[in-house]
Amino acid sequence: MSIKSIQEATQLLLNNKVVAFPTETVYGLGARADSAEAVKKIYELKGRPNHNPLIAHLPSLEHAIEFAQFNDAALQLANSFWPGPLTLVLPLTDPSKITDSARAGLSTVAVRCPSHPIAQELLKEVSIPIVAPSANLSNRISPTCPDHVRQYFPNTPILEGDQSQMGLESTIIDTTSEMPTLLRPGTLSVEQIEQTTGLTINTSTKAKNITAPGQLDLHYAPTVPLRINVSSKNANEILIGFGNMQCDYNLSPKGCLIEGSHNLYNLLLQVEKIGQPMAICPIPNIGAGIAINDRLNRAANNTKAS
Ligand code: TXA
Ligand code: MG
Repeated sequence: MSIKSIQEATQLLLNNKVVAFPTETVYGLGARADSAEAVKKIYELKGRPNHNPLIAHLPSLEHAIEFAQFNDAALQLANSFWPGPLTLVLPLTDPSKITDSARAGLSTVAVRCPSHPIAQELLKEVSIPIVAPSANLSNRISPTCPDHVRQYFPNTPILEGDQSQMGLESTIIDTTSEMPTLLRPGTLSVEQIEQTTGLTINTSTKAKNITAPGQLDLHYAPTVPLRINVSSKNANEILIGFGNMQCDYNLSPKGCLIEGSHNLYNLLLQVEKIGQPMAICPIPNIGAGIAINDRLNRAANNTKAS
């Protein structure tokens, strides 16, 4: 169900309804963060376990400061990359207006300021934090255009926009411990974050305090078997390539990892529909390629095909 205006979307959200909207990473399924009733609808719609917390979306750092505590590193990260594809996990301000169920009862909150102009306008108009997980059913591929959202949620109002520019979910950094720690890689790479801020980001998986199943292995699941890091395809497989090579579909013929991130989910969903097994060639594990490989590893684990 398509909705036309920011005003209509705002009214629906204020009335505790769920509305899908575009961001520069992927489409989100929004609900007001201060309403247990609205948040419950998100968990039910997605079939999401209630111990997996949501990200609160706000238009700017000035708005976010009211809801979470920013140390020096968090301020530096926010000043450098907000609005944009970076989520920060922060201690809550007390008492919190982000309802308990949206945080899965944690004393921290994940906060993000998306840069997409429609998301920006909507968040300013609603002027209450909006929690928004990716607008897919739990354990399915995140949507990067309105059609994908409609396939998952035919009855949910969608504020329509273009195809998501980044195409992968935001980079998540936990700034609650002494050294900022990467919880989820994204198109915005750790390399780029470190270069811009001069901060050192802890990327060791052992250091991750896994507080939410979103960070666990089984997450992104295509509906057909998937093999990764292949050098050639088996009979019946569809080969997804990268760079200048012979293949059925190509993530980026010119070998650009940013373009590859942008195309990944769209391509996976397109090929899924054909119904044949997929095989994907190796993707360089640098920069945005780290995020692509993170998602591919989870997808391959989930189909148990490799
Ligand atoms: O790009 C994005 O971040 C998109 C768009 C719509 O903004 N949203 C998104 O939300 O990817 P979701 O719910 O699909 O993923 C949020 C991740 C989950 O893995 C969740 O476990 C983690 O963030 N998370 C949320 N709150 C957390 C917290 N307090 N501590 C640690 N992880 C948290
Ligand atoms: Mg998600």
